[in-house]
Amino acid sequence: MSPDRFAALWRSLAPIGRTPEGYQRSSWSEADLACREWFTEEAADRGLTVETDGNGNLWAWRGDPAAGDAIVTGSHLDSVPGGGGYDGPLGIVSGFLALDLLSERGCVFRRPVGVVAFTEEEGSRFGVACLGSRLMTGALDPARAAGLRDRDGVTLADAMKSAGVDPSALGPDPVRLGRISAFVELHVEQGRALAAPVGVASAIWPHGRWRLDFTGTGNHAGTTRMDQRHDPMLTFAFAVLAANKEARLRDAYATVGRAEVSPNATNAIASTVTAWLDARAPEQSTVDGLIKAVTTKVTDRATRDGTRFVMSPESLSPVTEFHTELRDRIVALLDGAPVLPTGAGHDAGVLAAHVPTAMLFIRNPTGVSHAPDESATEVDCTAGVEALATVLEELACR
Ligand code: GLV
Ligand code: MN
Ligand code: MN
Repeated sequence: MSPDRFAALWRSLAPIGRTPEGYQRSSWSEADLACREWFTEEAADRGLTVETDGNGNLWAWRGDPAAGDAIVTGSHLDSVPGGGGYDGPLGIVSGFLALDLLSERGCVFRRPVGVVAFTEEEGSRFGVACLGSRLMTGALDPARAAGLRDRDGVTLADAMKSAGVDPSALGPDPVRLGRISAFVELHVEQGRALAAPVGVASAIWPHGRWRLDFTGTGNHAGTTRMDQRHDPMLTFAFAVLAANKEARLRDAYATVGRAEVSPNATNAIASTVTAWLDARAPEQSTVDGLIKAVTTKVTDRATRDGTRFVMSPESLSPVTEFHTELRDRIVALLDGAPVLPTGAGHDAGVLAAHVPTAMLFIRNPTGVSHAPDESATEVDCTAGVEALATVLEELACR
């Protein structure tokens, strides 16, 4: 396939939700709806049948999924705030183009093939990563999901209703899941770990998100003696440094990338700070040790600051070891493509607990992700489409 063909389809999606500060494609936003419309049109152009499931995931089918034994590829269309363009959409664009290649090659499909766009993979609006795939597989309670609130207090149920999607069907979808015999997600690599154009995933590190609530006493910045303050900002600042230190001590990763301060005034001591900690490591025991150490240290610091500290898990993802046989088969098909683990989370990690699942990674020259400098060359993306077509042909046409 010529890189121009990849570029042409890429260009049709690229402007949606793009801002000078990066992509803003949070789930059920106007940009997300426009991405969904793009998906529906591209699917229709290819004669694929489109359906939105009860969890808001979009499916485009070649063949009848009810026949079962289906092969599915795809990823997600939502972005983190200020994200890059490739994280998610690359897997969907590549899925459509790979199907085009197979049709042009005259492949005889023996199984239905689907391209899926899972809802809210990033968890950027409602806090839980891989929302759509977790709901579908029963890993997330639908009542809890429906009540999740975004930064403006809007619930997932209301956001879906505003988008014209009925939230009463949220929940496990064993029939749909049972029809899938393999899932292959293509994704941009999110660091500098891949030197070849295309790699194959071995595992996803265990990871999670915790909400940190710090409560103190708001007061005047000019009249409250320094030794009489209950300043939650101090406990918060300590927590950020403690998480960083504890992660470094264990070769783990810890990030506090989001915080909200109330009342957020220059001349007032804050009364509350809420922050979110993201922690990841190759081993679950390392993540657990990190969280335990942070909890102990920050609780102690809160006592000294005269503040209150509460830490609650919002989204936990255990380690994923991808299906070994499928991975080895794909590596062989792709002439010994490199195999690598990742610290980034994916819907493939959720699906892997239920169906044979694999991931293809596409080289990222900047090594940046979740930020506007995320990148992949047209030539590498085209190699990715060809690799995905090879894999789908093996799985669906033989
Ligand atoms: C998703 O990209 C994540 O790893 O948070
Ligand atoms: Mn992603
Ligand atoms: Mn992401």
